[in-house]
Amino acid sequence: MNKIKIKIELFSEKHIDDIASLEKICFSNPWSKNLLASEIYNNNSNFLVAVDEFNKVLGYVGLKFILDEGYVTNIAVFPQYRNNGVASELLKRTIEFGYAKNLKFISLEVRKSNVYAISIYKNLGFALMGERKNFYIDPQENAFIMTKYLK
Ligand SMILES: CC(C)(COP(=O)(O)OP(=O)(O)OC[C@H]1O[C@@H](n2cnc3c(N)ncnc32)[C@H](O)[C@@H]1OP(=O)(O)O)[C@@H](O)C(=O)NCCC(=O)NCCS
Repeated sequence: MNKIKIKIELFSEKHIDDIASLEKICFSNPWSKNLLASEIYNNNSNFLVAVDEFNKVLGYVGLKFILDEGYVTNIAVFPQYRNNGVASELLKRTIEFGYAKNLKFISLEVRKSNVYAISIYKNLGFALMGERKNFYIDPQENAFIMTKYLK
């Protein structure tokens, strides 16, 4: 059962400042506001934002798709709202979008050490497909490639 009420919205201008702060908190190579803003009008993107009942931003997920392939660009949740099912809900909605768009698969990279994220992806049906050497910097680390086939 969720401890907080989670609503999922399409990413829009009003979320940019919060999502840019979240990127800075979570990643050593954060997306800029400009880069985030460019996704709002990208027909090949589906970025989703989770908010609570007071419209406070909790987290977000980005999906880019080309033909029938989907790629998760990033997923992040503010530290104080973690372990409430926010990331799982964002991913479930992304998977639903993938089915609706008739995507063949959704794939993502994750730091090899990010056991928490890896377990969430496994729970949602993503399987380990391979490894990309030194994919990440600051600190340098290999990525696991995880993919969920939708058909
Ligand atoms: C990874 C991240 C997005 C997860 O967000 P979240 O909203 O806390 O995830 P959820 O609440 O949906 O957690 C889902 C599962 O993880 C489990 N979990 C929660 N806290 C955990 C912990 N500290 N250790 C292990 N598992 C944990 C939950 O029990 C839940 O499992 P269940 O569905 O079987 O009950 C979040 O920790 C984050 O933003 N991390 C920094 C950015 C990042 O690493 N992003 C991933 C890039 S690939």
